[in-house]
Amino acid sequence: MAGPIRRIAILTSGGDAPGLNAVIRAVVKTAEVECGWSVTGVEHGFEGLIGKPRIRPLDGSAVAGLLPRGGTILGSTNKGHFSAMRVDGELVRDPAPYKELAANVKRLGIDALVVIGGEGSQGIASELARFGVRAVGVPKTIDNDLWGCDQTFGFDTALTVATEALDRLHTTAASHDRVMVLEVMGRDAGWIALHSGLGGGADVILIPEIPFTVEAVASTVTTREFRGSNFSIVVCAEGASERDGGGQTYQETTGTLGGVGAYVASQVGKVTGKDARVVVLGHLQRGGMPTPFDRILATRFGAAAVRVLAEGRYGEVVVSRGLEIGTVTMPECAGKVRTVPPDHEMIRTCRGLGIGFGDEEDESLIPEPLA
Ligand code: F6P
Repeated sequence: MAGPIRRIAILTSGGDAPGLNAVIRAVVKTAEVECGWSVTGVEHGFEGLIGKPRIRPLDGSAVAGLLPRGGTILGSTNKGHFSAMRVDGELVRDPAPYKELAANVKRLGIDALVVIGGEGSQGIASELARFGVRAVGVPKTIDNDLWGCDQTFGFDTALTVATEALDRLHTTAASHDRVMVLEVMGRDAGWIALHSGLGGGADVILIPEIPFTVEAVASTVTTREFRGSNFSIVVCAEGASERDGGGQTYQETTGTLGGVGAYVASQVGKVTGKDARVVVLGHLQRGGMPTPFDRILATRFGAAAVRVLAEGRYGEVVVSRGLEIGTVTMPECAGKVRTVPPDHEMIRTCRGLGIGFGDEEDESLIPEPLA
């Protein structure tokens, strides 16, 4: 499949994130204007290139008005035929769908793929190289945990929604002297909880990287009360877990990750004797209009992906590094997540402000009761 590029295909894979459509728009426009290539949209991720291909041509008019639109016009698939399975500790992939996709790509005259997806999708794209499919990746996740990338698009929108929720919870918590727990997304990384907690003035931030104890959370609440604040706000990543507990919390009804916020509310309520409530933000963080920051980042990522292909480079993922756009190789970032380092400057900043993380370090800050 070597040779000059005339046609590229684009697909969105994994959970959606605000800004996906802005990437699609930027890829189509840059491919058309800067390179003179045609673009094919693939529906429902990699799945759209097996069986009867689900594809459609995308030109400037097909992507008009997409910049502020949430979701993805191409649709996405989270778990499909391309996922790796763990067998005896080894990651194993069924080669059949990969071969079928490669054959379809060749037959359809697609010279390269732009894959917009998280670490799992970049792993699939990386594997496709072994079947002769050229690809460049664009990272996507609201969790902001793609390895090698300082900020992914979608994160700023999720953060904005979570911060607004914390602002709103403050007034109702203060009116009733309650503990309000907000559960936000963040399976393995607590970036949304950490940033929204700092920006939204939370009193306790619980993240997967720092296991918590109910006692430490309750201590922060009672210490606040001791100092004259009769309400407390806790923001909790869905992937947070209790120290010496049973690991992450899954919902009984759906089997999906979540429910730790309700556990924290009920336990902290019991220990402190205060009224406690939980709010689960869930997919509200992923839906709707991207913020201006995410639209711009998504557009820069899309344009950069086309430029990488135009330079004859493949197997790379476009990333942000500070204010610049760069790349990392697909195998480098596939399957890896960028978690919050427990000694991160933001954690220190939070602790310095008296924000608790539900760990021992918080307890050492608690003053002795006045005699
Ligand atoms: O995009 C990652 C994420 O937001 C995780 O934090 C969360 O666990 C997951 O998506 C939920 O996705 P879905 O409900 O679509 O499977």
